[in-house]
Amino acid sequence: MSENVLAEIKNLRTYFHLAEGVVRAVDGVDLVIKSGRTLGVVGESGCGKSITALSLMQLVPPPGRIEEGEITYYRNVRATPSSNVADAINISKLKPNSRQMRSIRGNQISMVFQEPMAAMLPVRTVGSQIIEAITLHQNVSQEEARTRAIDMLARVRLPNPDRIIDNYPFQLSGGMRQRAVIAMALSCNPNLLIADEPTTALDVTTEARILDLMRDLQQEYDMAIMFITHNLGVIAEMADEVAVMYMGKVVEQTDVQSIFFDAKHPYTQALLKSIPQLDDVMSRTGERKRLQTIKGMVPDPYTVLPGCPFHPRCPEYIPDTCNRVVPEVIEVEPGHIVRCHLYASDIPVAQASEDMTL
Ligand SMILES: Nc1ncnc2c1ncn2[C@@H]1O[C@H](COP(=O)(O)OP(=O)(O)O)[C@@H](O)[C@H]1O
Ligand SMILES: [Mg+2]
Repeated sequence: MSENVLAEIKNLRTYFHLAEGVVRAVDGVDLVIKSGRTLGVVGESGCGKSITALSLMQLVPPPGRIEEGEITYYRNVRATPSSNVADAINISKLKPNSRQMRSIRGNQISMVFQEPMAAMLPVRTVGSQIIEAITLHQNVSQEEARTRAIDMLARVRLPNPDRIIDNYPFQLSGGMRQRAVIAMALSCNPNLLIADEPTTALDVTTEARILDLMRDLQQEYDMAIMFITHNLGVIAEMADEVAVMYMGKVVEQTDVQSIFFDAKHPYTQALLKSIPQLDDVMSRTGERKRLQTIKGMVPDPYTVLPGCPFHPRCPEYIPDTCNRVVPEVIEVEPGHIVRCHLYASDIPVAQASEDMTL
């Protein structure tokens, strides 16, 4: 598999300026998405996963705004594996409605959302919506587009695609609808598929089938996937690389094995302890046990905490450091980065004059 960089996010800050204050939804995120690979993005609800993805698509809802940072997309990276700087597009500089941005959304990057019903209009047939997605961006006739739409529905393993194409979304089950939405997203043959909690609304059996399908389609199309979830079990199944987010920041990033067997950040370690195992919920004697939860709550989104944003909940909190000094990115192993003072060669101590620096 290729290791070419397809998209790169550097120091992204996306804020919502509200009457109540500023929500720093994304607060200095760095991410790399490699061609043909799956980047898993994991973290509790509200940590900025969706807004990071929407920033990449230039679809941040107002009053949200990209304040700072660079999003670079390397077009044709598959076509020219030897040089991926030839066709770099600075997405963060494009206007959301510009021709170039619309063409990227239609031909290069597609997104699948959590709720399949929201992604499709209830009053139009599944087929007409997929056909429209195809004709909008590709120069093909209605008949050709319909043939392609049926082909896409077959590829996402929907039975009787020539009949389903004329169904309305409500006539399909949740799992079938999500397949149809994936078919629509794939109809432009994207280099990057962003899947934002695509199986969270589904039952576990349907979820497992959709995840299998996405893996197969990734192989078939050689596309990169940015897979967003709050579920570490899904990460284990899908991701090659994992970024763990907390309060608008990536606090740890490494390959999937290292996340599960060598997690460094106390937040990642706490997330791992909250995954249910059979032994954890019920002992052999039939006694029920409580799952471990991460102590404390995610602070309200208007709060800007000094130092490390996880310090009020952290079991390894270092007084006068974690609550005062913002942790730098530390590379603990090649390709394994963590934002935590525990791994600094010298633990920084805040000077009195630096008190409460952000
Ligand atoms: N449309 C919006 N208006 C105001 N705040 C928003 C909006 N969308 C998201 N946010 C805030 O941005 C932060 C990150 O949200 P989001 O990226 O949706 O989190 P996640 O996807 O990780 O659950 C949250 O604090 C959320 O309340
Ligand atoms: Mg979300």
